[in-house]
Amino acid sequence: MDLVLIISGGILIGCMLGLSWFAGSDAPYIPTKMDRIKEILKLAGIKRGKKFYELGSGDGRVVFETARLGAESFGIEQSWIRILYSKYKSWRYGLKKTKFFHGNIFSRNYEDADVIYIYLLQKAVNRLEEKLKKELKKGSVVITQTYHFSTWKPYKKLEGFWLYRA
Ligand SMILES: C[S@@+](CC[C@H](N)C(=O)[O-])C[C@H]1O[C@@H](n2cnc3c(N)ncnc32)[C@H](O)[C@@H]1O
Repeated sequence: MDLVLIISGGILIGCMLGLSWFAGSDAPYIPTKMDRIKEILKLAGIKRGKKFYELGSGDGRVVFETARLGAESFGIEQSWIRILYSKYKSWRYGLKKTKFFHGNIFSRNYEDADVIYIYLLQKAVNRLEEKLKKELKKGSVVITQTYHFSTWKPYKKLEGFWLYRA
């Protein structure tokens, strides 16, 4: 009986962890496909000396890529599991220029950002449009994926990625 309880409890916890891996308030977890991302990041001006923020950083894959290109790279993510996973991967890859913060993207200020990357649902993207227009310094670049700003005019569009300059 005890063994049945332990096994059932284990399965339940496993299912809850599995489901929470995909959860997200302003977008579920769907990772960016990496085939075009390096090109897009270079187009956005990512290089040594730049500061990059990913709003809703998932498993950290885009943050790792910008760090490899030399930028100081930050990920903000509301899932503890994904933050722990990203920190582990960052340690494994030896990427010292990465930092991951657990929390809500709307609770932070991005005035020091040079490049921002967003892959979230339309409602969150609309909210961020207003926030970033107020906060970003002149010349900063924002990249949106799949869901884009509704009034801000992009300077470049490339297969689902739109680039904007503040
Ligand atoms: C569509 S996924 C994109 C993940 C990653 N940016 C990528 O491109 O591979 C959206 C991510 O944003 C996170 N997220 C959604 N709303 C958030 C919020 N308000 N604050 C922080 N993270 C959020 C989700 O947990 C999820 O990991």
